[in-house]
Amino acid sequence: YVIGIDLGTSATKTILVNEQGETVASAEHSYPMYQPHNGWAEQDPHDWRNAVLDTLKAVVEKTGVKSEDVKGIGLSGQMHGSVLLDENGETIGNTILWCDQRSSAQVDEMLEALPMEKWLEISANPPLAAWTAAKILWIRENEPEKFKKCRHILLPKDYIRYVLTGVFATDVSDATGMQLLDVKNRCWSEEILDALKIDKNLLGKVYESQEVTGTLLPEIAEQCGLSKDTVVVAGGSDNACAGVGTGVVHEGQAFVTLGTSSVVYSHFDKYISIPEGGLHVCCCAVPGCWHSMGGPMSAGLSVEWFKDKFCQDLIERAKKEGKSFYSLLTELVEKIPVGSEKLIYLPFLMGERTPHMDPLYRGAFLGLNTVHTQAHMLRAIMEGVVFCLADCNDLLKDQGIEITSLRACGGGSTSPVYRKMLADLFRCGIHTLANKEGGAAFGAAILAGVGAGIYPSVREACDKFIQEQDTMDFDPAEADLYEKYHAVYDQMYDALKKSF
Ligand code: XUL
Repeated sequence: YVIGIDLGTSATKTILVNEQGETVASAEHSYPMYQPHNGWAEQDPHDWRNAVLDTLKAVVEKTGVKSEDVKGIGLSGQMHGSVLLDENGETIGNTILWCDQRSSAQVDEMLEALPMEKWLEISANPPLAAWTAAKILWIRENEPEKFKKCRHILLPKDYIRYVLTGVFATDVSDATGMQLLDVKNRCWSEEILDALKIDKNLLGKVYESQEVTGTLLPEIAEQCGLSKDTVVVAGGSDNACAGVGTGVVHEGQAFVTLGTSSVVYSHFDKYISIPEGGLHVCCCAVPGCWHSMGGPMSAGLSVEWFKDKFCQDLIERAKKEGKSFYSLLTELVEKIPVGSEKLIYLPFLMGERTPHMDPLYRGAFLGLNTVHTQAHMLRAIMEGVVFCLADCNDLLKDQGIEITSLRACGGGSTSPVYRKMLADLFRCGIHTLANKEGGAAFGAAILAGVGAGIYPSVREACDKFIQEQDTMDFDPAEADLYEKYHAVYDQMYDALKKSF
């Protein structure tokens, strides 16, 4: 057996997978996100620690698996967060998360330290407020007493590695999102570290995702019912692990995830660069390969926001009708025509990265009129998310890269309405996977299996265990209609960008 842990933004999901690639148990534990100011987002790493230990214990107890039969653990996690540890390995305050946009001034400082061409050449991406380097500079300038105490800077899943093994390490895919990595050569960039005056000793050693980084600390092994010989592999960013978990590991393959944030992801065997940097380019979890990704940060977040703030009546109605809020939502939005009767939503609640790289942008409903109902607004939110994904796809097309089929994962992918929108806007087939547990935790489990020597390679395991199931085809007439609304959506962004 192997275990995959995905440290998400709303919850941690842990799964136990057998040698045949079947998920035999899973457990989830959620935690809060704190938003002390507009555009800020933080979490307490102790919540992650508790969630990981609880879910590890839960999958072992549920199945009664013998401790020595669990050979490896793989870690996947939300990207870009900056966990600061002091000399005793204690956390220093809450962690600033990937979707926090407070460090936009630090982007200017990064550009003073190194010109844009250098950032694109070394880190493969333009300086970004949401990535870790800008957050480190923000902490150093605004909370110097915290920074003085700091001896280690870890990404969220790498903090979990430290809790489980006592080792300070990371992997190439997640390290890309720190913006301190030489992405082509897959190692820390001395040039960037020097330019930003960040001490390399603060960072862990960088591994390929399937490599073993350590074994469980005896006290942790005992607490979770596992063996201290269980290996913990480097793992990857949640996006890179979702690449493995959806079997997108060969050139030409792509997936879209519809979670809190939403991403369209393509695999490349060779390093690519996007000239204007409108899409992220990262090392991926297949050794020696890369991926691109882009999409709205506030995807599921927009739906959750609207549900929590404006849909109490629908929540009650779903309860009364004995169904989930999301199946009621699907029923309602299915009845609204394409284009939500000329209502456009811009999904930028927390500012945006790809494709606009604009931390100050915010969300908007445009074109409201008296026919519009809650259901129109919900449909417009979903359409806005897919318009943003389609913009990212257009950037790939500009590079001559054509996505011809997409695998879908993440909570939103269970919605046929969302999949239809994607099929129409991308003009390609959208596939769901036979393994419903596919996704980042499953990808992390495959990496653990390769590191522990159970599966021969990431690609072979993916090709064997991951099959496509349903296909949603696009409808040319609806695709034409969506194209018109998409063009209006793009104009709205341009018209409003100065107003924020
Ligand atoms: C990607 C990103 C998000 C988080 C979400 O750059 O920030 O996808 O990884 O968990």
